[in-house]
Amino acid sequence: MTDFAIEINNLSKTYQKTSKSPAKKALGSINLQIKKGSFFGLLGPNGAGKSTIINILAGLVNKTSGEVKICGIDIDKNQQQSKFKIGIVPQELIIDPFFNVRETLEIYAGYYGIKKSQRRTDEIIEALGLKDKAKSAPRSLSGGMRRRLLVAKALVHSPEILVLDEPTAGVDVELRNQLWNYVKSLNQQGTTILLTTHYLEEAEELCDEIAIINHGSVIACDKKSNLMKLMNEKELIISCDNSVEISKILTDFKTKVLTEDRLSIIYDPEKVAVDKILLILANNKVQIKDISTSQPDLEEIFKHLVSRKL
Ligand SMILES: Nc1ncnc2c1ncn2[C@@H]1O[C@H](COP(=O)(O)OP(=O)(O)O)[C@@H](O)[C@H]1O
Ligand SMILES: [Mg+2]
Repeated sequence: MTDFAIEINNLSKTYQKTSKSPAKKALGSINLQIKKGSFFGLLGPNGAGKSTIINILAGLVNKTSGEVKICGIDIDKNQQQSKFKIGIVPQELIIDPFFNVRETLEIYAGYYGIKKSQRRTDEIIEALGLKDKAKSAPRSLSGGMRRRLLVAKALVHSPEILVLDEPTAGVDVELRNQLWNYVKSLNQQGTTILLTTHYLEEAEELCDEIAIINHGSVIACDKKSNLMKLMNEKELIISCDNSVEISKILTDFKTKVLTEDRLSIIYDPEKVAVDKILLILANNKVQIKDISTSQPDLEEIFKHLVSRKL
C-alpha cells in the first residue's frame, strides 16, 4: 500500500508540431507527490502546464516521458484500473448533448460497470443540487449547472481522488460556495482532492498543500503554512502628519509614501519587533493617528515566486 494518491516522476510533455503550430514543450520534468487524503492545490499562471498534467492523469493526453502512478497503479501498465481510482472534472465544459442529466450519469455508471443496485445516481444529483434539472437536456443548462453535471459525472464511480481543473471559472458566488462545501465534505470523508484554480484566495482557504508551476516546471511545493512563511515581510501602515518627512527618519526600513498622511513601512517580523519601529517614531516625536499591519497573502507570495523564477 502506498501513502500517495498521485505520484508523478520526471513527467515531460511536448505537443507535436501540426500544420498550424510548431512543437510546444508544455512540461519540463515534473515531480509531484500528492498524499492520500490531502486537499492539494496546483497553481500557476495561464499556460503553465496545469491542464496538461491533469489531462495526462485523465488519459486524455499522452505524456512524452516519465512515470505517473494513481494510488500506486502505473497508468502505462494498467490505465483501465487506474481510471477507477480517479474522477476528473476537466476545464473545458464538454457535455454530451443527447442525454439528459440523469441519463448521462446512468450511462457513465454503466461505463464503469457499476451494477444498477449499487449506483448512486439520485444521491449525486441531490448532493450537487441538480434535482430540478435531472430531466433537462444539457444544452438547456447554464454554465454553472453544466459544471455541476461534470462534477457529478466524475463521482459516479466513487473515486478515491477527485481532480478539479478550474472548477469555479465563470461560476457565480452562491454556486461556488455550494460546490466548495460539497468538495470539502468529500475531503473530510477521505477523498483526495487535486484542484487547479485561478482564484488564489480559494486555494489559500481550502488547500493544505500547494504546488506552484510555471513554464512547465515546479517552482514551489510545500504545505500551505510553510509557503505562507516564504515571504518574511509584514507591512505596517501609519497615519501621520507628514509621511515624506517620516520616511526619511526610517532609513533602515523599506518605506512607501501612500499619501501625504499615510506611510507604509515594510519589515521582517523575524528580525524586527514592531515596537522597535514605534519606538523610533516616538523618539522622533512623530504623532501617530492610526496604525494597521498586514501580511502577504498567497496572491503576493505567488507573484513573488513566479517573477523571481522567470
Ligand atoms: N493540444 C495542444 N497542442 C499544442 N499545445 C498545447 C496544447 N494544449 C496546451 N498546449 C500548450 O501547452 C502549454 C500549457 O498549457 P496548459 O496545460 O493548458 O496550461 P494551463 O492549464 O496551466 O493554463 C501552453 O503553452 C499551451 O498553449
Ligand atoms: Mg488549464
